[in-house]
Amino acid sequence: MKKNVLVITGSPRKGGNSDLMADAFIKGACEAGHSVDKFETAFRQVTGCIACERCWSNGRACVIDDDWQEFSEKLEKADVLVFAYPLYWSTMPAQMKAVIDRLFSYCSDKCLHPLTGKEYVTLICGECEGDEIFSEARAVQKGLDSYFEWKQLGELAVHSVFKKGEIKRTGALEKAYEMGRSMK
Ligand SMILES: Cc1cc2nc3c(=O)[nH]c(=O)nc-3n(C[C@H](O)[C@H](O)[C@H](O)COP(=O)(O)O)c2cc1C
Repeated sequence: MKKNVLVITGSPRKGGNSDLMADAFIKGACEAGHSVDKFETAFRQVTGCIACERCWSNGRACVIDDDWQEFSEKLEKADVLVFAYPLYWSTMPAQMKAVIDRLFSYCSDKCLHPLTGKEYVTLICGECEGDEIFSEARAVQKGLDSYFEWKQLGELAVHSVFKKGEIKRTGALEKAYEMGRSMK
């Protein structure tokens, strides 16, 4: 089945490690015939949730008028979400966290377009050694998927990469490409 895929990136480093993973995944997914969109949170104007509780009061999920409005339209249409980001202080960069915080509106009992049932993929990397460096990021992700009843299709977590492009020597780009290409 052809799917609508929304790739959400978190790094401000264009062509950096997580961005390369995102692009490899996109290449594979496009070759498999899926429709793919990329939303680069680090290059958009998105503020965090202000807890005003005016969600859906004007028919839209959130009243704040910034690039998140475009994001939410893409989000609602997507079948698969791909979160591609580097660890920043053990979780995601602030730019991406701002986008995620605004999902609060979809928890409202006034929500008009529930996000339940989506599938997602996680592509993460970090400088420190060992798989346990991803535990906080996984906890954040788990919180989202248990709340929205999302199903994880796959995860690629690459540790011990620091400098831009270091991921090329790890085999992760080939894996990310294959994850995109084999997505059903
Ligand atoms: C502000 C900041 C915080 C970081 N915090 C962590 C961290 O907590 N754990 C870790 O393993 N790496 C950390 N790193 C390193 C990045 O995760 C690593 O360099 C990654 O490969 C960068 O990916 P990118 O090229 O996609 O931006 C941090 C880097 C920055 C700039």
